[in-house]
Amino acid sequence: MSEAVRTILRADSAAAKEPDRGADAGFLWDFWYPAVRSSVIRGKMLVTAMLLEVPLVLGRTSEGRAFAMRDSCPHRGMPLSYGHFDGATVECSYHGWRFDACTARCVEIPSLTSQDKLKVERIFAGHYPCEERDGYVWVYMNSPGTRPPENVPAAPALPVFSKKYKITHLECELPSHVDQGIIGLMDPAHGPFVHQSWFWRSKHSIHEKQKQFEPIPYGFRMSPHSPSSNSAPYQLLKRITGESVTTTIDFVLPNMRLEEIHSGKMWFSSRATVTPVRRDLCRIDFVAAWNLPFLPVSLFRMFGKTFLRQDQETMIKQAEGLKHDPKLMLIDDADRPAKWYFGLKANLLESRRTGTEMQHPMTGPVTLRWRS
Ligand code: FES
Ligand SMILES: [Fe+2]
Repeated sequence: MSEAVRTILRADSAAAKEPDRGADAGFLWDFWYPAVRSSVIRGKMLVTAMLLEVPLVLGRTSEGRAFAMRDSCPHRGMPLSYGHFDGATVECSYHGWRFDACTARCVEIPSLTSQDKLKVERIFAGHYPCEERDGYVWVYMNSPGTRPPENVPAAPALPVFSKKYKITHLECELPSHVDQGIIGLMDPAHGPFVHQSWFWRSKHSIHEKQKQFEPIPYGFRMSPHSPSSNSAPYQLLKRITGESVTTTIDFVLPNMRLEEIHSGKMWFSSRATVTPVRRDLCRIDFVAAWNLPFLPVSLFRMFGKTFLRQDQETMIKQAEGLKHDPKLMLIDDADRPAKWYFGLKANLLESRRTGTEMQHPMTGPVTLRWRS
């Protein structure tokens, strides 16, 4: 064999080697995750996304049903997103195998002759349950090597409290593992340092706080309370309705922070999810809805974008430090929610491993105190 051929062969086998997929990336499987905004899938377009390091191809059938398949042809791995979608079936661009978009069942292999015995209908591309909710296409990521359960739970929906309301979406990517994104999201102590704004609060407004928390299934709740007295928007709301303002904040596995604010008939509801794209990349999807007449969408988006950008810039800088794998600390009480998150996650995995009921890391209501 000539040296050149040998070199090519060696290069090929190196390229063919799978990256270390077996290594545990710390993802929580068997949950719904938002893959893309509904609005990006138009007509017979195929759209790609990655969730939990799984490449996906998404689209919507002529009947309007969203679908998600693994972006890989079961024949020879060609991304199906390079193929053609006719509104019902996806045709691979390499050898033309066709798959039903909703079931991922193979419906045609053009190279077969009438003599061939291959059972085409027994071949499936990878596919995942898919639902549209609140302007997102959600995908249920069942764990690798398993089939989605018969009865998949419904995808999460943002709570709303009146017929008419405004709604808006924001997103941003963080160059971090999903765990860092999540504990950043629930971290009460970074506010005065990261989110300094004339319209919100300054470093000098830092003061001692005391909040009650309680366990809820798969998560914990900051019990209904009157929000921070040093935040101008809440004071405004109180002045307008003349009624007290209450806020409830929940964190629920795998990745969700829900916040509800009520004052009389006025309400505001938001959800932030931190979704693992890869082990070194996650994305915050933020959706908010409200019936506050004095809050235009444009104004809210301006504030929201500023907030997200502040978090994103911080996490980009933090990622520089995390590259060197430093030892980290979680301190009481400000980092207690982060400890609960890691506890919930570990206990969930343990209960799945052993088939026993999940233990909650909290035994009852707890009061936390910190300054922010
Ligand atoms: S790789 Fe898809 S049809 Fe061959
Ligand atoms: Fe933040």
